Amino acid sequence: MNCFSIAIDGPSGAGKSTLARSLAKKLGYLYVDTGAIYRTIGYYAWKQGVDPKEEAAVLALLPKVQVELTYGEDGLQHMLLNGEDVTREIRLPEISLYASAVSAHPGVRSFLLDMQRQLARSHHVIMDGRDIGTVVLPDADVKIFLTASAEARTKRRMLELEQRGTPEPYEKILKEIQERDWNDSHRTAAPLRQAEDAVLVDTTDLNFQQSEEALLTIIKEKTGA
Ligand code: DC
Repeated sequence: MNCFSIAIDGPSGAGKSTLARSLAKKLGYLYVDTGAIYRTIGYYAWKQGVDPKEEAAVLALLPKVQVELTYGEDGLQHMLLNGEDVTREIRLPEISLYASAVSAHPGVRSFLLDMQRQLARSHHVIMDGRDIGTVVLPDADVKIFLTASAEARTKRRMLELEQRGTPEPYEKILKEIQERDWNDSHRTAAPLRQAEDAVLVDTTDLNFQQSEEALLTIIKEKTGA
């Protein structure tokens, strides 16, 4: 089967997952949230009391982890860690920095690479992350680099956490977003950067509908969908 792939990269809180999930539904594509895969490894390090910045200690965990990505009856992506569904746990706010730290180790990235590519070989996918257009799917049919100001992303994250019942103060979220931006774009292994052939979309002043329309226009232009 000739599979189409759409890569959406960008910093945390730019709206990648909400937009990608909605677009996948509209287009009948499989949505793959690759951040959830790194979060699963970050969660395991956290659970084992391992410092996520300690490369050797994190790599020593890998032979003990089996990471699986499945789709529930709800159609949503679920993450299994050694057979246990950790979909909710990986969203705990403290796991974000763990995920960012473990994702900087090249051994972690190569451990997870094939699983991501395999999904794109067997399905039409919309995959979001940090290095999808640059490393995971360099031949993706559509590449989008989605961004927004750190302040706009902080406000969105604040709202999301409030709705989830785990509110956090603005300053704390902003600091964490800036720290993750720095980590994710300054690591040596597959840093966050815009692929040369990616289309830049800045959603700072766009609401959800406007952002979705902007992405649909780009996708239609590239695929004729
Ligand atoms: O998208 P997210 O915020 O759930 O991702 C969590 C962390 O995982 C993020 O800070 C960096 C890392 N990540 C990555 O390095 N490469 C990806 N393709 C996706 C996420």
